Amino acid sequence: MTAVPEPRGDVAVLVPAAGLGLRLGPGAPKALRPLAGEPLLVHAVRRLAAAPSVGTIVVAAPPEGESDVRRMLAPVAPVTVVPGGATRQESVAAALAAVPAPLEIVLVHDAARALTPPALIEAVAAAVRAGHDAVIPVLPVVDTIKEVDARERVVGTVDRSGLRAVQTPQGFRRSLLAAAHGAAVDALTDDAGLVEELGVPVACVPGSEWALKITRPVDLAFAEALLRMQPAAGPHPRPA
Ligand code: CTP
Ligand code: MG
Repeated sequence: MTAVPEPRGDVAVLVPAAGLGLRLGPGAPKALRPLAGEPLLVHAVRRLAAAPSVGTIVVAAPPEGESDVRRMLAPVAPVTVVPGGATRQESVAAALAAVPAPLEIVLVHDAARALTPPALIEAVAAAVRAGHDAVIPVLPVVDTIKEVDARERVVGTVDRSGLRAVQTPQGFRRSLLAAAHGAAVDALTDDAGLVEELGVPVACVPGSEWALKITRPVDLAFAEALLRMQPAAGPHPRPA
């Protein structure tokens, strides 16, 4: 067995991994399902541990899955495992509560974005270190976007030039992320949304196609194909 690498960095990463993966179809919780023979969570944590900035990883585990997650990740990287919550937001809050005090930069990274390259993790951490209090990786939207009414009739075509698809890891000054979760009134699908509700600016860095969120069965097939293209940790994020 290869030695577990010692963490080095000044960044804590929270990994919400407690979702059930309902859109993936029947089976185990999504983070525990296999991609090329290994659970999605193993792929995700291996790439986090390969990013030199990362010092601490806290995983929010699926219901009843804490001991399986601990066992599965023991050969991959040192991690803290906490029970996840009923929503993604609750899982992130539970993981945030377990971050050791000295770490001032916190990234939040979906286990479902299992092939996210270490270089993207570094780029988000570097942008927070450089002074941005909240940072998200984004990609341009490639499809034409229509707005529809309740009966699925087209109301209009949205100008996509000002739209971005948002990925994780999202990076934050720790005190800001804690304040945003403390003040949360709405259930949102990302953490930057909570920061926006506080009126704090959010900066963008170029995302990566490798950071796709595995949501539907077809995404697993895409991810398998990416791994066949480049079995290592993946490429550098491409320029915007
Ligand atoms: N997540 C979590 N706790 C929850 C719900 C989601 O930690 N109660 C995590 C998921 O494990 C995933 C990330 O949040 O890594 C993004 O969520 P999503 O892709 O929606 O995953 P699931 O909720 O598992 O999938 P689905 O919505 O299809 O059930
Ligand atoms: Mg979900």
